[in-house]
Amino acid sequence: MPIRECPVTDIDLWAGPALRDPYPSWRRLRDMGPVVLLAKYGMYALPRYQEVRHALMDWRTFSSAQGVMLNAQMNEAQAGATLHSDPPVHDVQRAVIAKPLLPAALKKLEPAFRQAAAELTGRLMARKTFDAVTDLAQFLPVSIVSRQVGLPEEGRERMLTWAAAAFDVAGPMNESAQAALSVLREAIDYSYDPGLRERLSPGSWAAGIWEAADAGVIPAEKCPAMTIDYWAPALDTTIAAIASAIWLFGRYPEQWKIVRDNPALVPNAINEVLRMESPTPYFSRVTTKSVDLGGVTIPAAARVLMMYGSANRDELKWRDADSFDIRRAAADHLGFGRGLHACVGQTLARMEMNVLLTELSGQVEYFELGEACWLENNMLRQIKSLEVTLH
Ligand code: HEM
Repeated sequence: MPIRECPVTDIDLWAGPALRDPYPSWRRLRDMGPVVLLAKYGMYALPRYQEVRHALMDWRTFSSAQGVMLNAQMNEAQAGATLHSDPPVHDVQRAVIAKPLLPAALKKLEPAFRQAAAELTGRLMARKTFDAVTDLAQFLPVSIVSRQVGLPEEGRERMLTWAAAAFDVAGPMNESAQAALSVLREAIDYSYDPGLRERLSPGSWAAGIWEAADAGVIPAEKCPAMTIDYWAPALDTTIAAIASAIWLFGRYPEQWKIVRDNPALVPNAINEVLRMESPTPYFSRVTTKSVDLGGVTIPAAARVLMMYGSANRDELKWRDADSFDIRRAAADHLGFGRGLHACVGQTLARMEMNVLLTELSGQVEYFELGEACWLENNMLRQIKSLEVTLH
């Protein structure tokens, strides 16, 4: 039985200053309660940690099968991708997508990542001042990861543009989402081009999807949608996380000193970066039945917003939630989601961040920052440009 009415608010997370700086709106929602109805969108929001985590662990009630984006058009365009599925389909597809992303498979790539990180750091030390996004954060995802995905060159070159559009159109259908629709259409058409398979790099991750179909593991018609699982989340998310790491360490030089003195803390520092600045602040679920959560009844067939970024700043979960502290127990963060759909690429993202931060910690005493310019994107929290000087 519900013990309270669901608070209703006209706060709009996808308009005005909230797009660039969502933290004040997130705090207001957390203060209102564990479940809040966003009136403009008719969508239930979960702004606190405990309820987001609970819902992510209960896929039978909080389903992904009707899409996890925030508008019907986008959920239709991406239908069939692993992200937008429930078991048993989900588990079969995820096993295929996960194959090249398992720790044992990634071990083979580690030397290449280490060497590239060392060369990059050397070049940047010599340059001293540069852009933390285009010159640093993009380097490993674009030069190594995009090649592993295996799209032919003209597709590989478009991956960053497609991914940014895919995250933008994933929000409510506002002006920004409308503007990104034609780019997304191009990406979907590319993925569904019947000639694509022949042009994929042999042995690449995307080629592995078609091999799984040949082996009868997945139906062949699923292959195009499953390429979306690679090209959409593989680059921009990690680029966002790396740029945020530089931004945070620049603003908290004492935390960088702790890392420099003890690089074994890098893995936890990565968790703390993802807690503080979660690149994917929201996805959603649809309820399969009426459910009581946090004392509120959410009806069946309701879209429910999982607020990963807000949960990661929930004062009920984290002491001093807004301060960056790489020694706190941060592994519980929801930046990679949780449960069945927990990020399948997280070992890769962690590896990229780890080699870079470890290399930089050996050479950089502190980062001097210019002003960070944040991207306005409905579903991706990413720095667009940030001048940085290495000392
Ligand atoms: C720092 C970087 C990254 C962040 C913050 C991130 C974030 C997330 C989150 C929050 C989810 C859960 C979605 C949900 O709950 O519905 C997810 C799922 C997923 N991620 Fe990532 N991601 C990152 C990197 C990557 C990379 C590098 C890849 C691929 C190479 C990737 C591929 C995927 C896929 C395919 C899923 C869907 C998994 C499933 O449905 O079972 N991600 N990611």
